[in-house]
Amino acid sequence: MIVCPSILTADFCRLGEVADEAINAGIEWIHLDVMDGNWVVNKTITFGPALISSIRQRVGPNVFLDCHLMITNAADTWKQYVDAGVDLVIAHVEAVDDFSTLIENLHGAGCQAGLVLNPATPLDEVLPLLPNLDLVLVMSVVPGKGGQSFMPEVENKVRTLRAAIDAQVSDGGRVTKLMIDGGIKSHNIAQVADWGIEVAVVGSGLINNKATIAENLAEIRAAL
Ligand code: DX5
Ligand code: ZN
Repeated sequence: MIVCPSILTADFCRLGEVADEAINAGIEWIHLDVMDGNWVVNKTITFGPALISSIRQRVGPNVFLDCHLMITNAADTWKQYVDAGVDLVIAHVEAVDDFSTLIENLHGAGCQAGLVLNPATPLDEVLPLLPNLDLVLVMSVVPGKGGQSFMPEVENKVRTLRAAIDAQVSDGGRVTKLMIDGGIKSHNIAQVADWGIEVAVVGSGLINNKATIAENLAEIRAAL
């Protein structure tokens, strides 16, 4: 299981130090939550390509960066995130009309392509895209902020995706990664690993005022 921090609950004045702390604790993948003040229900704004570019410079070339685009116009603005230095762009299936073209564009630009779906979104549109996706992210909260409660009702969707990906791989197809995001803590991470999740985003469970990232990560690793 790859554990990757969402920096949403960090002190944004200390982002560089938080990234350093995460890397020193053994983190190899950082999840960047982009909200544009329009797409998520609570209209939150977080950050965009300029800050991501600074994070890329700070962490160097070897840390894997993904951006989770909770924005209205990912189909038009994806290139800004590639240019800022992310390795993987994850766009919401609910927010992009022609997802196949977005995947082609990302791959053409040398970037990995990911799809994310909200807790209430069915898999109908997702499964046909699976052969070309590098990652599928299942939201286990309604996106908009960190620190929300995990929604265990996404289990069936995760298990269906796990089976579909396993079948794809055994047919010689792409090894699509399966990720979960929202409310993951040391008390439920083993459960989602059992469902077949390979990458877990952990925000408030890793970056909080209770303990250091290293201490929180040790607790999560022990739970796994
Ligand atoms: C929600 C974001 C998540 C989230 C993770 O909109 O996509 O990445 O903030 O934070 P926790 O782990 O606190 O739910
Ligand atoms: Zn996220």
